[in-house]
Amino acid sequence: MSSSAIGLITGGSRGLGRATALKLAESGTDVIITYRSGKDEATSVVEAVEALGRRAVALRLDTTDFVNVKGVMYVVKAVLPHLLEAANSTDRQVADVINISSVAGRVATAGVAIYNAGKFGVTAATEAWRQEFGDRNLRFSVIEPGAVDTELFGHQQGHAKEAESRRFEGVEKLHPEDVADAIAYIATSPRRRAINEIVIRPTDQKF
Ligand SMILES: NC(=O)c1ccc[n+]([C@@H]2O[C@H](COP(=O)([O-])OP(=O)(O)OC[C@H]3O[C@@H](n4cnc5c(N)ncnc54)[C@H](OP(=O)(O)O)[C@@H]3O)[C@@H](O)[C@H]2O)c1
Repeated sequence: MSSSAIGLITGGSRGLGRATALKLAESGTDVIITYRSGKDEATSVVEAVEALGRRAVALRLDTTDFVNVKGVMYVVKAVLPHLLEAANSTDRQVADVINISSVAGRVATAGVAIYNAGKFGVTAATEAWRQEFGDRNLRFSVIEPGAVDTELFGHQQGHAKEAESRRFEGVEKLHPEDVADAIAYIATSPRRRAINEIVIRPTDQKF
């Protein structure tokens, strides 16, 4: 990746976003991360990126009012003009939007209807944008991870938490870095190669 590359990582203070910020920094990218409330965690990501010799800044962005697919749509709309300009004025001649959906965006399960609806929407919107913007040097990709060992599951409560624990009993979860590797592979691909979709499941995960 060229030294002028910049990555914007929403939700970059923890979990998949944190691992992605560090992986992209290792690939030579400066990063902008966003966080909702974890300013200390975001600051620690900025420091870790700077320790890798890249520039980093953390911005507060709360998309609580636009959960799942709407949040993705508003962020994509906001960054589109900048990405199109970068794609057509830098050495790489391409820019990337990499959306994180989930296996829940491919397979629906009782009890998580809203999550399913949001993630199916992210996958569908990404494919529509891919068709719309490919000839303007903008690539759209979607990654659909299975269970990853992050704090996400810790936010669940009651029956949902119990059901989720049962579903993943005995499953060795992915590490955030497993997903970050895929993101870096997409973002460092030469212009001719667009990776449209990647599903990454833990080896033990059946659904
Ligand atoms: N973990 C999994 O098993 C898994 C599997 C498939 C897909 N995914 C998807 O991967 C993405 C990242 O998940 P993760 O596991 O890395 O989650 P996580 O560890 O809980 O981290 C979530 C990140 O998003 C930020 N965030 C949360 N709510 C927000 C809001 N309303 N507005 C703005 N920022 C917000 C958090 O900021 P603060 O810390 O400041 O709140 C944090 O930086 C999600 O889209 C998730 O659906 C995760």
